[in-house]
Amino acid sequence: MTRFGIIGGGLMGHGIAVALAQAGHHVAVFDADPATLASLDERIARALERCAMPPAGAGPVTARITAAKTLSDMVVGVDAVLEAVPERLDVKQQVLDALEAKIPAVTPVWSNTSVLSLTEVGKGMRHPQRLVGVHWWNPPYVMPLVEVAPGAETDRRFVQEACDLLTGMGRTTVRLHRDVPGFIGNRLQFALVREALHLLEQDVCDPVTIDTVMRASLGLRWSSVGPMENADFIGLDLTRDILVSLAPHLSAAVTFPALDKPLDAGHRGRASGSGLLTWPPERGEEVAERLENGIRRNLVEP
Ligand SMILES: NC(=O)c1ccc[n+]([C@@H]2O[C@H](COP(=O)([O-])OP(=O)(O)OC[C@H]3O[C@@H](n4cnc5c(N)ncnc54)[C@H](O)[C@@H]3O)[C@@H](O)[C@H]2O)c1
Repeated sequence: MTRFGIIGGGLMGHGIAVALAQAGHHVAVFDADPATLASLDERIARALERCAMPPAGAGPVTARITAAKTLSDMVVGVDAVLEAVPERLDVKQQVLDALEAKIPAVTPVWSNTSVLSLTEVGKGMRHPQRLVGVHWWNPPYVMPLVEVAPGAETDRRFVQEACDLLTGMGRTTVRLHRDVPGFIGNRLQFALVREALHLLEQDVCDPVTIDTVMRASLGLRWSSVGPMENADFIGLDLTRDILVSLAPHLSAAVTFPALDKPLDAGHRGRASGSGLLTWPPERGEEVAERLENGIRRNLVEP
């Protein structure tokens, strides 16, 4: 059993707490926002409800998670700390600075950054050798994958330790050879999102059609056969022919008018009631449920 501290009890922090506690670990969660901390128990209960966990199973999981009012309370007795604060380099660096003042030099520090360079996140740390990128996927108590990566200064023993712990929890754990923004999953995901926006900008179709195509084709295929196995399956010669023909037409954009337009009009997506699609109040919860149920149905062995 390991005693974890989590800094940031938002979407990912509370979900990772549930995943760790389900695996038998104890977790103390600290958040700088008192309201977020106050709602922690309720959000954890809702996550466990979604896991369809009977009360007899949920009780011990809940009991293993505590809300810590201060960073000092959170670090008491911790074996490892994960930061899940917003995706801003300055915020993460400040948080790690405050954390390092309170924990021994040997305590592992995990960052749940999605796309920042681990090496940059670790700049300014007193002991950057203990910083490991441990990237969970949302919802963390459902999604099996965790991507693990070193920063330039990371001691590989900390990487191995993280991989062993996560694998021991039954996670599908992948280890990157080196630090790269976006790990593997987000690079693949956002290459696809970029091309989807490109199709909108070229007026090929509307946003709903893009989701229909994805959900009725690639979304189904890729949970069974990954793109590398599929490349071999259809033949590398055909794969190359397709790429040579198609690649010049694919987006290499670094600006995104299809997002700028709604954003400039105040349409941020679910949170504001509209974005690429319209979001009546009940839709957010419906999508969250559909997402979690769909992932559970599709869960595959690695
Ligand atoms: N949302 C996702 O799907 C997802 C998936 C994988 C990784 N991530 C990454 O996880 C991290 C957290 O994302 P999120 O979606 O949970 O964000 P979030 O906004 O839901 O949660 C962040 C929390 O950090 C708290 N916080 C901010 N500054 C703090 C500080 N100085 N000390 C303590 N708490 C502080 C906020 O109050 C908030 O509750 C980001 O790095 C993000 O890129 C997100």
